[in-house]
Amino acid sequence: MPGKVILGAQWGDEGKGKFIDIFAAKADLVVRSQGGNNAGHTVVVGADKYKLQLIPSGILYPNCVNIIGPGVVVDPRNVLREIDGLTAKGVSCDKLYIDARAHCILPWHLELDALSEAEKAKDGTAIGTTKKGIGPTYMDKSERSGVRMHDFVDADRFETVIREACAYKNRVITGVYGAKPLDADAIIAEYRPYADRLRPMVRDTTILTYEAVKAGKEVLFEGAQGTLLDLDMGTYPYVTSSHPVAGGCCIGSGVGPTAIDSIMGIFKSYTTRVGEGPFPTELFDETGDYIRNAGGEFGTVTGRPRRTGWFDAVVARYAVRVNGLTDVVINKIDPLRGLDKLKVCVAYKLKNGQTITEFPANFMDLVDCEPVYEEFDGFDEDITGCRTWSELPASVQSYITALERIIGCPITMLGVGPARDQVMTIK
Ligand code: GDP
Ligand code: IMO
Ligand code: MG
Repeated sequence: MPGKVILGAQWGDEGKGKFIDIFAAKADLVVRSQGGNNAGHTVVVGADKYKLQLIPSGILYPNCVNIIGPGVVVDPRNVLREIDGLTAKGVSCDKLYIDARAHCILPWHLELDALSEAEKAKDGTAIGTTKKGIGPTYMDKSERSGVRMHDFVDADRFETVIREACAYKNRVITGVYGAKPLDADAIIAEYRPYADRLRPMVRDTTILTYEAVKAGKEVLFEGAQGTLLDLDMGTYPYVTSSHPVAGGCCIGSGVGPTAIDSIMGIFKSYTTRVGEGPFPTELFDETGDYIRNAGGEFGTVTGRPRRTGWFDAVVARYAVRVNGLTDVVINKIDPLRGLDKLKVCVAYKLKNGQTITEFPANFMDLVDCEPVYEEFDGFDEDITGCRTWSELPASVQSYITALERIIGCPITMLGVGPARDQVMTIK
């Protein structure tokens, strides 16, 4: 396994946390390389449910080193809350490290995320962000005015850095949005203890990751969000502000592409999306409600109902291509139980009458496009107890075999329930 990427191949929430947790049992190191606490990765172990946002999903294994890499954006208050929550449940965070280069999400980022969304909502162009300050923090990083972890935990510089950044952002908050300025003194008083607590965890994690790779240890790169939310490859502007595609793992963890041996893309057997933006196979009828309820499709971070629709193989083929997937997982098959027919979108018929099979670069092409479907028989059996291919009903086998043919990448694992053991390896 050395150098294995596990990433979301749709619009997020595919079940990455479950699969990272499963593979982390044999891993030495798990690294997150992008995003922040906009992610919500669920790991179910027996009766316990862990909803991890920033902390890598290898944290439940005491021997596994868990790294928040250079490309991640870190909300100090939130990560400490997460650490405290895990510690209270008896999970040790002693082997958790944060890269010195990671940028901090600070109160003005949260404020600006909310103000920008409210402004856009006026003309119906809001993104539907998680309001965790992700976009504004990555904006500051690109603008080269951000606060990095090494600045934040520097006891001598802390106050100056916060005061200067807050003053600059207050000019935007008051000048552009006409909102009230933030109180730098209050922020300094609240955040100084956070800096003190985080200081021992902050280091150059790229050395740890590199040494692990070099020594042939098992290293997992944990994707957050999903391919179609990628800043470049996703449905821009309805995307997140980082790079969930496979290439983002290298940039955001500080190791070269040669560190990676395999890239596993996680799909659900249907599609979901949270927030705004195009979604060609979205269902607005009772089948969409059925899938939402059966799959428990409500946001891990925001609690928002997820939009639901049929499996989109145009998206899937695109994800195989832009990530260079070596294999695919079809997760969450069990929620489809009870549906008479299962549909898979194989092409889009555009408004101008043209039919396309490649995912378009301009999301406007997707507006009012009509999905072209292939149809398969559904299943009525409870498959949550199945652990081998031969135990699956024939119609499920046909559905998976068809998906593999249509998307053109080996399907190696299936998910049939939220628990660690509700998976099967089929190749
Ligand atoms: P992630 O962000 O990709 O880690 O996924 P989330 O945790 O946000 O969302 C996946 C949800 O589906 C969680 O509530 C999981 O517990 C649940 N889940 C994961 N795999 C399965 C599965 O195979 N079947 C069912 N029914 N639920 C699953
Ligand atoms: P995991 O890792 C699903 C979506 C938001 C919004 C858009 C931009 O759990 O799969 P942001 O707050 O990032 O600026 O919001 O991206 N989004 C996610 N959707 N799963 C996620 O993470 C997401 N992280 C962000 O809903 O549409
Ligand atoms: Mg999630």
